[in-house]
Amino acid sequence: MFARHLLAFAALLQIGTVTLAHLAAWHDGMYCRNGTSGTDEANDYTVVKPLYQLPKKDWWLHGLDGCTKFPPAPGKFLELPAGKEFAVEIASNRGKTSLSFNGRFASNWPDGNNYPEDYNVPSCIASPNLHAQNNSQAAGTAFAISYQSDIERVTPENLVVFSVKYHTPWKRVTTYSVPAALPACPEGGCHCAWAWIPNGCGQPNMYQQAFRCKVTGATSTSPVAPGKPPVWCEDDPSKCTTGAKQMLYWNQQDGNNIWVQGLDKSGSPKSPAYNSKCGFFEGAQNDIFSTAPGKERRCAAKRKRGSAGRRVS
Ligand SMILES: *[C@@H]1O[C@H](CO)[C@@H](O)[C@H](O)[C@H]1NC(C)=O
Ligand SMILES: *[C@@H]1O[C@H](CO)[C@@H](O)[C@H](O)[C@H]1NC(C)=O
Repeated sequence: MFARHLLAFAALLQIGTVTLAHLAAWHDGMYCRNGTSGTDEANDYTVVKPLYQLPKKDWWLHGLDGCTKFPPAPGKFLELPAGKEFAVEIASNRGKTSLSFNGRFASNWPDGNNYPEDYNVPSCIASPNLHAQNNSQAAGTAFAISYQSDIERVTPENLVVFSVKYHTPWKRVTTYSVPAALPACPEGGCHCAWAWIPNGCGQPNMYQQAFRCKVTGATSTSPVAPGKPPVWCEDDPSKCTTGAKQMLYWNQQDGNNIWVQGLDKSGSPKSPAYNSKCGFFEGAQNDIFSTAPGKERRCAAKRKRGSAGRRVS
């Protein structure tokens, strides 16, 4: 037992010194939690690998290292409480989260170390690799949901962004708000994805990874509408895509859904992100539901007629 911990600790030290760590969102409901070796890797960091100029089969849900073939353990889901919040741990390595070593190597920050609240590095913060100079420059991250229980049936159109957190990634524990009207998932659960596109500070890459998830306490039954691609609309908010939006797919060999050129308002090269520049408002995305006259409305009308009928009789 002790020897095993020592070994794990040695591995942790090595990782800390030799690799420039990137970031992922950790939770028992995630794919690739234990790595891809088939045994439980307490210091795994497969899923933090950035995605850049890859074919879609490789970048989609972090397929490149086989992560989509390593689902969470049976019964493990990222639970999304309708109208409330859920938390994940953003970190460079599972060893720096509460999922490993009883959280012994976790700090308030994604890499297990400590930094000032007003951490600011004008040449970009590299430890942890936040791809930002300071909190105000952190681009934003998002969660999306697909009402498909089979990960092979998740598509860019049915994977819709339902929550955005501005100025993240930043600290380890990060919370996201769930729309109150998010409907329940099918029997086998839903699939969710976490994603991030940094605002400069290094390779213009993106991050995407999969989770098994389910909505708890759902009361609404209006379905989530198919997602449309977001567009760059910093210069003219009236151009923003409204309603249900896809995640951002950028700078890959194929499968991209956004293209930008030139400079943003601050004079930096445009970098699509989960913030107002691409029409994403902060928090729960409450405008993603199908407004087509649906089942629910017809049922409500029927119920009304029914109760009126009872009153007369
Ligand atoms: C990951 O490893 C843990 C043991 O630490 C085990 O309980 C769990 O079932 C494993 N998860 C998967 C998906 O294999
Ligand atoms: C954050 O970084 C940006 C870009 O370097 C800089 O303009 C801004 O003043 C910084 N803000 C703080 C609070 O340090």
